Amino acid sequence: MEAFSFSGKHVLITGAGSGIGRLMALGAARRGASHIVLWDLNLAGIKAVAEEISALGVKASTHKVDVSQRASVIAAASAVSEEIGHLDVLVNNAGIVSGKSFLELEEKDITSTFGVNTLALFWTIQAFLPGMLERDSGRLVSIASAAGIAGSTKLTDYSGSKFAAVGVMEALRAELREAASSVSALTVYPFYINTGMFDGVKSSSPLLRIQNQDVATAKILDAIESPRRELFLPGMVYSVRIFRLLPAAAFDWIADAFGINKAMKNFRGRKK
Ligand SMILES: NC(=O)c1ccc[n+]([C@@H]2O[C@H](COP(=O)([O-])OP(=O)(O)OC[C@H]3O[C@@H](n4cnc5c(N)ncnc54)[C@H](O)[C@@H]3O)[C@@H](O)[C@H]2O)c1
Repeated sequence: MEAFSFSGKHVLITGAGSGIGRLMALGAARRGASHIVLWDLNLAGIKAVAEEISALGVKASTHKVDVSQRASVIAAASAVSEEIGHLDVLVNNAGIVSGKSFLELEEKDITSTFGVNTLALFWTIQAFLPGMLERDSGRLVSIASAAGIAGSTKLTDYSGSKFAAVGVMEALRAELREAASSVSALTVYPFYINTGMFDGVKSSSPLLRIQNQDVATAKILDAIESPRRELFLPGMVYSVRIFRLLPAAAFDWIADAFGINKAMKNFRGRKK
């Protein structure tokens, strides 16, 4: 895939009402996108972001969507197609975390987490990929997580949903290659970011610091504008792939030594 530019592009971001979704929407507008579509359950949040985008002289539209619900996605996707015609960039960013240990998880925690973090990829990509294939152009982005390549305490539902999202994106990349399509896919693996979603989390390793949301967003936008297929934030997260070559006992020892399994101890998360 050739390098790609936001200039003149139609961009849709899910979970755009706060955190890096909001920052990516503003960043894409500053980088020249011509229309940003903002999806979130939090309508007040995306309305405020749309005002910030309009102030930059870029068109923005808002849709209250529950991305875990196929019917909600299909209805909003058809409204988007009517409004802007085609879509160039789809960023699956909406995500939730319960932060509970395995036996504390209630049924709703598990189904909601998989609904938002995994199933939403099927609903949104099935809605917009046909148009991208027809135009032989488009960029599919998924904000997965470092927890999508390494499991840790209090993240069994989250980690399982993000491992699944990573698998969906990898298999989809294979299908796009097989179809010799110019539509490309990018999976992002961030360590913790200071958006509020993981408030209370502590990192005990100087090699794995909590990421600054503005810096992380700029790197993600750079990666969307590049031919990259994967982005690890920070780059140290990539080492998980290398440590995986070791037997599980050694891999687990390294994860514990990095303090990965203590990080969620005082998790509070975003206040409702
Ligand atoms: N913050 C981190 O430490 C971190 C680390 C790794 C990966 N991530 C991932 O990055 C993404 C963004 O995280 P963030 O930190 O900006 O979180 P955030 O909580 O600030 O934003 C997530 C947004 O998703 C929206 N959302 C939740 N459920 C939804 C639903 N069913 N339908 C539509 N919108 C919904 C929320 O209203 C919110 O605006 C998530 O996928 C998250 O899993 C975050």
